[in-house]
Amino acid sequence: MNVLEVERLNIWEERTGTLLVHNIAFSLAQGECLAIVGESGSGKSLTCKALMRLKHSGVLQSGRIALKGIDLAQLSDKEMRKYRGRGLCMIMQNGMRAFDPSRRLGVFLLEALAAHFDWSRSEMTFRLSSAMLSVGLNNPPEVMRRYPHQLSGGMLQRVMIALAIVLEPDVIIADEPTTALDTITAYEVVEQFVKLRERLGSAMIIVSHDMGVVRRIADKVAVIKEGELVERGKTGAIFTGARHPYTRNLVSAKEALSRHYKQLMGGADFADG
Ligand SMILES: Nc1ncnc2c1ncn2[C@@H]1O[C@H](COP(=O)(O)OP(=O)(O)O)[C@@H](O)[C@H]1O
Ligand SMILES: [Mg+2]
Repeated sequence: MNVLEVERLNIWEERTGTLLVHNIAFSLAQGECLAIVGESGSGKSLTCKALMRLKHSGVLQSGRIALKGIDLAQLSDKEMRKYRGRGLCMIMQNGMRAFDPSRRLGVFLLEALAAHFDWSRSEMTFRLSSAMLSVGLNNPPEVMRRYPHQLSGGMLQRVMIALAIVLEPDVIIADEPTTALDTITAYEVVEQFVKLRERLGSAMIIVSHDMGVVRRIADKVAVIKEGELVERGKTGAIFTGARHPYTRNLVSAKEALSRHYKQLMGGADFADG
């Protein structure tokens, strides 16, 4: 059975009725990673948020979003909250916006866990600390004492990944997780995502316009243009034989990060590995 099935997803502007995302469909098997690619403004973020039913002011959605066979569209808002975090967990582009700026990270993280588990405070702290250590945050007590603005973008991404490790979600959604990071940090964060998948076996959706990232992590690719899915296929096939000119452009608009990878890795050609 597929972990996630999306059918006829439409998203439109309430006031004008303008369609922003039109009839998108895809599915995700256990442990599978789908990359959603497309230029800025094509509807990638709207699609991600729609999966979690995160309301956008002035925007409505319809369609079937089935998580392990349960249609999320049929759930009450209260029921839906239970699925955010453990069912679908979103790792956002901008860590600064993902966390409450006025609260220490530890307070935020413990609260996020308390909403899903009956663990004691020390149990939660222990699990968070181990997860933080595993993603290279070497001083968990210090990280938990900090406010979001006191950490770099790369560290905040790691905090979100650590939280995902503890939550063990069915589906991880990462919306441009490396866009705000410098190349080396982006490289490290992508490697953390690869490890995260191996470790949890979660299905994953990653939005990226970096085809190097896509090639490194995704099993299959969906290409969105102006709110429509114009092409999809296995990652290898997309790179070697994309049908749509738009996809071919994306692929040939060269893999900026992959070139940096090669430099970082001392010339090893990861892209063909
Ligand atoms: N709340 C909103 N109300 C109206 N239009 C929106 C809203 N949010 C996004 N849009 C529009 O929907 C389109 C897709 O946006 P988005 O999903 O953020 O694009 P992407 O993530 O692919 O860059 C854009 O044209 C954007 O202007
Ligand atoms: Mg976006």
